[in-house]
Amino acid sequence: MNVSRRRFLGAAGLVALGAASFGSLALSGAAGQTAELMRSRARLPEPFRVPLPIPPVARPVRSDASADYYEITQREASVELLPGLRTKILGYEGMFPGPTLVSHSGRRTVVTHRNELAVPTAVHLHGGHTPADSDGYPTDLVVPPDWDMMHDMGGGTVAVGHRDYTYPCDQRAATLWYHDHRMDFTGPSVYRGLSGFHLVRDDEEAALPLPQGDRDIPLMIVDRSFDADGSFLYPAVDPTMRVLHGVEDDYMEGVLGDVLLVNGAPWPELEVEAARYRLRILNASNARRYQLSVPGVPFAHIGSDGGLLARPATLSALTVAPGERFDVILDFTAHRPGSTLTVRNGLGTGGTASVMRFRVTRRATDDSRVPARLSSVPRLDPARAVRTREWHFTREIGDEPRWLINGATFDPRRIDADVSLGDVEVWRFVSDLHHPVHVHLDPFQVLSRQGAAPAPEDAGWKDTVDVKPSEYVDVAVRFGDYAGKYLMHCHNLEHEDMAMMAVFRAG
Ligand code: C2O
Ligand code: CU
Ligand code: CU
Repeated sequence: MNVSRRRFLGAAGLVALGAASFGSLALSGAAGQTAELMRSRARLPEPFRVPLPIPPVARPVRSDASADYYEITQREASVELLPGLRTKILGYEGMFPGPTLVSHSGRRTVVTHRNELAVPTAVHLHGGHTPADSDGYPTDLVVPPDWDMMHDMGGGTVAVGHRDYTYPCDQRAATLWYHDHRMDFTGPSVYRGLSGFHLVRDDEEAALPLPQGDRDIPLMIVDRSFDADGSFLYPAVDPTMRVLHGVEDDYMEGVLGDVLLVNGAPWPELEVEAARYRLRILNASNARRYQLSVPGVPFAHIGSDGGLLARPATLSALTVAPGERFDVILDFTAHRPGSTLTVRNGLGTGGTASVMRFRVTRRATDDSRVPARLSSVPRLDPARAVRTREWHFTREIGDEPRWLINGATFDPRRIDADVSLGDVEVWRFVSDLHHPVHVHLDPFQVLSRQGAAPAPEDAGWKDTVDVKPSEYVDVAVRFGDYAGKYLMHCHNLEHEDMAMMAVFRAG
């Protein structure tokens, strides 16, 4: 990241950049987005023709008294995402999404990741309360056995061929996800397929009468663009993902695709019974924000990034930024067999205005309900905060387009903040454009937006918050248990790759 790897922008480029930075969002592509649309060249499929795939649940290769052990091989595969076309992906087990891991709270999960790709990787469990050496620090790599370490790998630890990640899972039930986190290349790695769900379950949640089994559905929503031959289109400066990082200048605000995939399928349909369903919504897109609604069926919002809310809330629409998760209950009991209900995206136009569809197939018995009380969410009291820190997220104006936190680009060797385990702190995120801000190690609670009340989407324990243009958001956070270096960063993956990350050291 120290080396200047991007071509020098001419005077015209500088003028354009300045205008985009200080000018209006009219220049920044679609409404509600800090990103640019990349158009597919492939013929796009009709919506609602393919069934929603459900990623398979991984089985442990062995278990002992205290832990379950898994093996995942990261490899290339050619899969059918668009009907009739093949797409080369980078996949956990050659799948996109990868297999779903399921852990029980308090029981250790050890995952051996084997890298059979052509490039290094780092695996991060997003939302995991994880010791630093298993958190997927962007320079703690798993390199392919034949990788030539010709250039500086950033001073991290390098494992050749495979690496064990240990997750104590000492945390409450929640919808987590795992994805690649290699320095400079997270955007293309995730875009090409390296992401999957990791669910943590616990007894408290299991005792609730929520929908379960086939009626508990993970939904990974992403946008992608496809070339005429079915391959992913991504404007990488270096498509080999070996040396040069970042995207072409036009896309530095972020990459939007024109195809919406849910669990890897374009605009799929899910057949449901006339019953209640729990949906675990994850926005795993590089840069796209969604405003989801299902006309005729309100969301009962029951959980956020860090697990169950104290009590459910009814929402008619839900804005979801990259990295965020929302657990909701949709109640189809009043809907007749044969009826269809479409998930709309209020921030999309044309094809991206709808996401997927439900088709009610038959009546069914359903003894689930949404209890008025779900869990307890003890409040982190900002009056107890020992300090307040400000984090400013801005675009750098200059010859090299980059994204900054507190005026600096990411340096994996620099410590940007020292925090004491157990202290409550107030963090203020201050933003120029849209920046979904994510903090590793522990979740936080949103206190206010612009000094006023938080949004409904901010309820509960969060690890990613949707900070909007020219906005500041205050959160309370307290880190526990694990000392070491952790990241906080923008989860717009193009911003992240172009250096919008900072390091805090817990101890
Ligand atoms: Cu989902 Cu630091 O990442
Ligand atoms: Cu994370
Ligand atoms: Cu950002």
